[in-house]
Formats: sequence, structure tokens, C-alpha cells
Amino acid sequence: MASSRIVPLLSQGHAALARARHFGFAGSSLNGVVSLSRSGVAMHTRQNSTMKAVVFDGNGAGIDTQRQRPKLDEDSVIVRPVAVALNPTDWKNVRYKRAKPGCIVGCDYAGIVEAVGSAVQKSWRPGDRIFGCAHGANPVNPDGGVFAEVAVVKGDLQMRIPEGMDFTQAATLGLGTITVGQGLYQKAMQLDLPSASAPSERNRHEHVLIYGGGTSTAALAIQFAKLSGYSVITICGEESFDYVKRLGADLALDYRDADVGAKVRRYTDNKLRYAWDTIGAEGTARICGDALTDSPDLSPAYGTINPKQCPRSDVKSTTTVMYTVFGKDIQFGSDLMPGSKEDFEFGKKFYGIAEGLIRRGLVKPHRHRLAAGGLEGIPKGLKDLEDGKVRGEKLVYLVNKQP
Ligand SMILES: NC(=O)c1ccc[n+]([C@@H]2O[C@H](COP(=O)([O-])OP(=O)(O)OC[C@H]3O[C@@H](n4cnc5c(N)ncnc54)[C@H](OP(=O)(O)O)[C@@H]3O)[C@@H](O)[C@H]2O)c1
Repeated sequence: MASSRIVPLLSQGHAALARARHFGFAGSSLNGVVSLSRSGVAMHTRQNSTMKAVVFDGNGAGIDTQRQRPKLDEDSVIVRPVAVALNPTDWKNVRYKRAKPGCIVGCDYAGIVEAVGSAVQKSWRPGDRIFGCAHGANPVNPDGGVFAEVAVVKGDLQMRIPEGMDFTQAATLGLGTITVGQGLYQKAMQLDLPSASAPSERNRHEHVLIYGGGTSTAALAIQFAKLSGYSVITICGEESFDYVKRLGADLALDYRDADVGAKVRRYTDNKLRYAWDTIGAEGTARICGDALTDSPDLSPAYGTINPKQCPRSDVKSTTTVMYTVFGKDIQFGSDLMPGSKEDFEFGKKFYGIAEGLIRRGLVKPHRHRLAAGGLEGIPKGLKDLEDGKVRGEKLVYLVNKQP
């Protein structure tokens, strides 16, 4: 067994084997993965490998040093995360006990492909640099999180890390990208898709309000909306004005201004049709309602990513939940949300578009800070996030050595 090398797609043969060796991870064993010996003979690796992971222990997030490695599903790839990033959903899954004990936590990662499932259509090979999003802390699939030395993610929803982008930057992009895709394009707003070519002239006079310009979600939303050719207004703290303008916002207004919603309505001549709220609280939904047009002909739409409605009954409200992209049933406490094939198909398409825009440098990662401690540092990071101690940046942790 000592000489086995992991190359799950036998058809990829010796080239893949050489690549896996080159990246230095070919000696570890994975559950149930078909491998090649040094001589190229197919064999199965041992079933008892363990790893380190951040898991929900029933009360909080802790480190499990003897966790079984996840199995390769046919529609998935096994990855070694090099860097992972925290999102608010990670601490919420733990705090509100949405996970069940033993679930691996974490959604955002960037790393190296180690093995590829037989039904994955995207052309991944062992050794590829990959990034994206997984369904962490998932009671339906406890192995689904990425805060671990080895993780299993849906192969066709992942993106290739472009030349020149490091793992810590790439780790910040997966969850936010599909959140913007669902909100701005698929469901809530149904805007024209973003493109690398010159934005269409017809959208130049159409305004989109992105509420909460200081969030990592808004940092991406502003850039995507500009790539769709819209004029972007954002509402955020004054300290973020320079930042959001560098991202492309045409107008930034301060959320401390009590009159800010009415100001947007005047600025847009009572024609604002789209307000996308990255906070989704009582007050933010009201401000968006104040900003949106009251002309029924213009069909005003309010979208958000937390369970909140616009207080105006003439405004169509839509909440999106990024977890629907995986196409599987979602258990949120006692609530069951059915899986959506349509969301999965949109996810494949939108990640493909985003991958191209990121590769061209047209969509840039949000600000991030490399935090200390690797996987062991994550429980404290989750607490800091929950306590509101992290503002205007994402926390990133190194998990495995960079190749
Ligand atoms: N449904 C989904 O699919 C989905 C996906 C992603 C996120 N979410 C949710 O969306 C929210 C944002 O997530 P995120 O990761 O983008 O957040 P984040 O980057 O952690 O946001 C932090 C920033 O939020 C801003 N902020 C806080 N309260 C605000 C308010 N009342 N008005 C305006 N700005 C405010 C602050 O900006 P300043 O520094 O300018 O004050 C702060 O820097 C979270 O509740 C998260 O759980 C949902």
C-alpha cells in the first residue's frame, strides 16, 4: 500500500499521476477512491484515513483531530483546502444549532484538486487550483463542510483559480458570488447578466440600489451590477465611500442619514425599480422601501438575503438563500426546503460567467485579513464575527501548505 498514488480517473493515467506527485499530496489515502500503484495498476486505497476538521459539537465549534476523511461522490471532487474564509452563515449555523453534532463547518475555500468523481462534467484534474463554495454545517450531509484538511465539494459548481491570484484571495469569493448571482440575476432582480464586453447602453440610465456597501456581499454585487451596465447607488458607512467607488459605485450615501431613502428616490426621479439589501433588517428594508419608485408601471422589486420583506405591499419582495444552489434538500432546524434543480443549473452557468470575469481581473475579491492559528484559530474567528468585531473585511485561515 505504501506505494499507492491517488488518481481517481483511470483514464487520466500517468499524466495525472505525475501531476499528483508533483503537488506532493499523492501519498495520502482516501476512502473508497480508486488509485494507481507506482506501476499504474488500479487498486483501492485503505478506508481508515483521518484528518483534522472544525466540527459542530452540539454546543459550539471545536476541533476534531481524528475525523474520517470524506468520501468521493460521483458528482463531487475531493480537495485539499489551502485557505478557507469565514462567512456569517458559519457562526449562525453553530449558534442557532442548524447543524447537528458532528457536522463539518465551513463554506468558502480555495485549494487543490485531489480526486474527481465519475459524473463531474467540468474538466478537473488532480493538482488543479480550485475555489468555490460548499454547504457547510449541513445536517443532511455532515461531511459537506470545508474547514478541514480534506473536503468534498460539488465538482460542476467550482471555479479555477486564475494565474496571479493566491489562495487567500480566491477563498473569499465562492459564497458571495452565487449569493449575488441568485439575488441580482436569477430570482430577486432578474437583471441582465454581467459581461466582459462593453456594458449595454440600454442599462446606463437604469439605477440599482445595493444596500450595505460595506459588506463583502455588496463588494461583489457592486462590481457585477456595473459589469451588467447599470448605474449603481450604494448606502454604507461614510468610511467605505472611497472603497465602494473604487469598486464602481456611481453614488454612495451614508446610512446614518435619516433621510437617505428619500434622497435616493429624489436622485432617481422616483424611477428606482431595483433595491437589493445585503443586510435585510427592519430598518434597511424600510430605507429601501423609501427609495423605490411608487409607480406601479415600473414594478418595484426588493431583494434581500435574510428573511425580511419590504414594508410596502406594492413592492415585490424576494429572499434568496445560497444553499439552494446545491440542488439538494436543505434542513434549517425543523424547516425543510426542497432542493432545486433549476438553482443548481443556474449555479453552474453563473459560476462559469463569474470564473471568466474573475480571470480577466474584472471582479476583484473583497478585502481580507489572514488570521492566525489555521483550523485551530477558526472557533475564535467565528466568535469574533458573531460579536461584530470583524468589519469591512473577511477573515481567512491557512489550512494546508501551499504547493
Ligand atoms: N441568504 C444568503 O444566501 C446569504 C449569503 C451571504 C450572506 N448572507 C447574510 O447577509 C448578511 C451580510 O453578509 P456578509 O458576509 O456580506 O456580511 P459582512 O461582510 O460580514 O458585513 C459586515 C459589514 O456589514 C455592514 N453593516 C452592518 N450593519 C449594517 C447596517 N445596518 N446597514 C449597513 N451596513 C451594515 C458593516 O459595514 P460598515 O463597516 O460600513 O458599517 C460591516 O462592515 C449576513 O446576515 C449574512 O448571514 C446571506
